Amino acid sequence: MAMSAWNQGYTTDVQYTSYFHAEIAPSHIAFAALTSGQRAPDLTGAFAYCELGSGQGVTLNATAAMHPEAQFWGFDFNPAQIANAARLAERAGLANVHFRDWSFAQALENEAQLPRFDVIALHGILSWVSPENRAEIVRFIDRTLKPGGLVYASYNTQPGWAQMAPFRRLAREHYLRHPRRSDLHVPAILSFADAFTEIGAAYFKANPVVPKRLEGMRKQAAAYLAHEFLNTHWEAFYVTDIAREMAAARLDYMTSATLIENVPAASLPPGVSAMLAQHMPDDRLWQELAKDFACNKMFRRDLYARGLNPLSAVEHTSKLAQLRLALAVPRAAAKLAFQGPVGEAGGAPAVYDPILDRLARGPASFAELVAVVPDQDRAKALQAVTLLVHSKQALPLANGVVGKTARAFNEALIAAHFSGESYGLIAAPAARTGLQVSADESMLIGSLLAGAKSAEQAAKHAAERLAANGRAPQQDGETLSGEAAVTFLTERFRPLLGGKLDLWKGLGVV
Ligand SMILES: C[S@@+](CC[C@H](N)C(=O)[O-])C[C@H]1O[C@@H](n2cnc3c(N)ncnc32)[C@H](O)[C@@H]1O
Repeated sequence: MAMSAWNQGYTTDVQYTSYFHAEIAPSHIAFAALTSGQRAPDLTGAFAYCELGSGQGVTLNATAAMHPEAQFWGFDFNPAQIANAARLAERAGLANVHFRDWSFAQALENEAQLPRFDVIALHGILSWVSPENRAEIVRFIDRTLKPGGLVYASYNTQPGWAQMAPFRRLAREHYLRHPRRSDLHVPAILSFADAFTEIGAAYFKANPVVPKRLEGMRKQAAAYLAHEFLNTHWEAFYVTDIAREMAAARLDYMTSATLIENVPAASLPPGVSAMLAQHMPDDRLWQELAKDFACNKMFRRDLYARGLNPLSAVEHTSKLAQLRLALAVPRAAAKLAFQGPVGEAGGAPAVYDPILDRLARGPASFAELVAVVPDQDRAKALQAVTLLVHSKQALPLANGVVGKTARAFNEALIAAHFSGESYGLIAAPAARTGLQVSADESMLIGSLLAGAKSAEQAAKHAAERLAANGRAPQQDGETLSGEAAVTFLTERFRPLLGGKLDLWKGLGVV
């Protein structure tokens, strides 16, 4: 096992995956606060945002590109990852994002030279670092978060890990006895678990979730699993544990960034809401803990506030009225099925269909959406909008579209894609968020940005650009060139153009 003093037991022999995490985007955090009726800092103009443990920095770079007036800081002690993050920032010409290869302790030492932050985000950190690291994080927050500022913190949660936690220990002990690069060791751990299951080890029988989860793990990247399971430190927390640690920085639990969890009717088994109201009406954290037991929750995305200030009813109504939304999927593809902590929840067509029909005609304000639901029921409209955003079928829109910096960022992503280093991402500046895109979509968007007006023109442009990078489209293992490449790409682009062009235009992508 590659181990050195600086990594403090955290996996550093293989880099973490690069992925855009929509939940830590300022636009998402602002939406979660607003729909929960809580006051949040203004995250539209010149705010300051920090990500602790920023990994490959994809999310930070994308959000910086879409908020050119704000300042973004990312710290991660893995120098290879910070170098990648800084390289993407440089290629996109971003001047408002600052990456440092600092540990949490070094960020704390250097706090005097940092701005005071409106938001500090930690995605995938707390469960995988030492208690000392968590204390450094809390001290950093205490010193650098503005009053009224928000913290996003996600972590593995109990009781949902109760069955799986011993598997993580088994994996870690196995790895300690077979020192090699951590990701390369992942398949050996999975085979070992299989063999153990086959010979009837009672742990796997008594905890049937474990073999099921092992199946899922086979589809995940080995690097991801190495970071999830093979660190020295690993702990799944009860929500009250984290709340107590955050209290040392005078933080109060605000709401969930997993939006469906803020809609009890869609995220709790029947009867739970009534039980919470009866037994624990005034205790938010006790309620959160009970909800985690009701749902056997495995992962939480918490928002904490440094000073909790609910919006007054008048403010809430007026801020909601200003909220504008756009459809993020073709109307025909919209589904009234929302994935939550206890499975799928359905939506009433009588409420959702008119909202979706209205959005299919173009962006609408929340007030306009309330007007189309039966009885102009504001609470039902708010619930529907929350779940449509949760399921990424609708997106809250920003005021005004950011042109230049988001365009330059997207050009950098497209150039990376054509050269064979794909991020699978495109910035949607009208919504200040990122969209996952396929390889074909990346090439098509790149061609549209370069001026292509039809599937044929786009295919010609994409084929030329691939060729300029020494690459070519592949069909059934065969490399295509010339006319065959253009015909092949044209066929792939045509349906995308029909289905997605209007959406991309609406979201400011092209
Ligand atoms: C699971 S990854 C999450 C990365 C990123 N937030 C994301 O979601 O893509 C955890 C990150 O924390 C960083 N990290 C762990 N311990 C750290 C420490 N003590 N100081 C700074 N960074 C640390 C790791 O290098 C890694 O990039």
